[in-house]
Order: sequence, then structure tokens, then C-alpha cells
Amino acid sequence: MPKITFAVTGETHEVPMGTRFIDFCQENDLPHDFGCTVGSCGTCALVVTEGGADLPPVGDEESETVEMATADEGARLGCLLVVNCDMTIKPAEV
Ligand code: FES
Repeated sequence: MPKITFAVTGETHEVPMGTRFIDFCQENDLPHDFGCTVGSCGTCALVVTEGGADLPPVGDEESETVEMATADEGARLGCLLVVNCDMTIKPAEV
């Protein structure tokens, strides 16, 4: 089962493969902010600081929102992220 570590708290959680990051956070009251939940606002932007090698590449729509939301290199949108590998994440600077 993939593991996600939240750099802000240092907590690590096992997440069932293929779970949407937003669903896992909301079901477990985890410390990550979301807004629109559909990839438009950028509130959920995060940076994968370790791991994440098996994440799919950033799509065009995700890329546009990330560019609008943060200057952090390689940022992703938490509301579109599907957990498929170990990773450490922190909120992006927005
Ligand atoms: S919550 Fe709005 S882009 Fe993810």
C-alpha cells in the first residue's frame, strides 16, 4: 500500500492504491486545503518533495491551474492526484 508523508506534520499514512488524494484527506481530516475540488482554483497545489516517481505527467488543464496558482517547480493539484506510489508532500507556496 502506498505511503504519503505530510511534511508539515511529519505524519505518514498508508493509502489504498488508486485512492484520490482529496478523498483520503477529507475522510481522515488531514491537513491540506482544498477549494473548488475540480482543478480550477489552485488552492490545493502541492509539491512532491520525495517519491512520486510513478505519478502520471501533468496534463494541460492541471498545468494551466498550477501556473496560475504557484511558481513552485513541479507543483501538482491535490484534488486531481491519485495515489499510486510513495510520496512526501508539502503545500505549494500560493
Ligand atoms: S481544489 Fe481547486 S484546484 Fe484543487
